[in-house]
Amino acid sequence: MKAVVYDRYGPPEALRLSDVPTPAPADDQVLVKVRAVSLNASDWELLRGKPLYARIGGPFRPRSPILGSDIAGSVDAVGRQVTRFHPGDSVFADILTSLGGFAEYACVPESALVAMPAGLSHEQAAALPQAGAIALQGIVGKGRVEPGQQVLINGGGGGAGMFAIQLAKLAGAEVTGVDNAEKLEFMRSLGADHVIDYARDDFTRTGRGYDLILDVAAHRPAFAYPRALRPGGRYLYVGGSVATLLQVVLLGPALGTAGRKKLRLLAVQQGAKHLAPLVELCLAGKVTAVIDRRYQLSQVPDALRYLGEGHAKGKVVVIID
Ligand SMILES: NC(=O)c1ccc[n+]([C@@H]2O[C@H](COP(=O)([O-])OP(=O)(O)OC[C@H]3O[C@@H](n4cnc5c(N)ncnc54)[C@H](OP(=O)(O)O)[C@@H]3O)[C@@H](O)[C@H]2O)c1
Repeated sequence: MKAVVYDRYGPPEALRLSDVPTPAPADDQVLVKVRAVSLNASDWELLRGKPLYARIGGPFRPRSPILGSDIAGSVDAVGRQVTRFHPGDSVFADILTSLGGFAEYACVPESALVAMPAGLSHEQAAALPQAGAIALQGIVGKGRVEPGQQVLINGGGGGAGMFAIQLAKLAGAEVTGVDNAEKLEFMRSLGADHVIDYARDDFTRTGRGYDLILDVAAHRPAFAYPRALRPGGRYLYVGGSVATLLQVVLLGPALGTAGRKKLRLLAVQQGAKHLAPLVELCLAGKVTAVIDRRYQLSQVPDALRYLGEGHAKGKVVVIID
């Protein structure tokens, strides 16, 4: 089969289209013919080996030669213990733990697969898993956003941010999106009431307070965040620098004590039950998976460069014929 492979951390030039053996499913796995795979910041991080958490499981060399974690496609073959899926079924999944999506076929544990409902296209389904789970758990699950609350989404113009802005608006919040200047209009189009260009303004120093800050691009010292939280407010770290992550985990409980503020890591859960509400909202037309660009499998390096250089508004999807 064709796959985009790499064997060293580096720029998109480290990737190449190759012929590799088609994987065979283990007893509890499903072989999926991949039709669409969406890009996430995690692909960019795993390509470059930065931040340091991207090297977990592969300190010196990539842990998997094939990147790509949000796939949609059809079941080609099933292992002996698989009971829920059959050849021909349309499915999608987040396979961040095993990777292998930038390929014509991928082996996926049955437990990770979600049946694709009628009405959802392959590219829409591929856009949902990782970004959608972050947004759903950040805004609805752990975020517990209520009508009238002030919500800030740092990194609001990317994949997770795109869903998070829409979910926060649906929950009745007043929403501020923070991202680069190229994405301000995009965040407004998703419903953001206020937008901030991170290169011009520091949202922790505007004097405004938030009930929830969902941070997919955390790069400040953790002690900067409490001043941007209202009493009882919550800060959720999703991704960003390792220094900020460690500070949030180690110092978060102490930093938030004054004013009953909470600083926490959002450890995102994967799987069907964590995505179901978002799938329903998409099918009902209440949330849109905005696809910025589509690429072919051979163009994965260009697609990742586009994402990594900060141009992608919403999701970038690779379509595999
Ligand atoms: N906690 C968990 O369990 C978990 C699970 C899965 C993934 N993750 C993490 O979640 C993150 C996923 O984000 P995503 O897929 O939504 O990424 P994305 O599509 O790349 O979006 C991130 C957005 O943040 C913007 N940004 C960069 N630096 C910024 C700054 N200093 N201030 C404000 N915005 C900034 C980016 O703009 P530019 O284009 O200008 O860079 C981009 O628009 C990744 O870091 C991934 O590792 C966490």
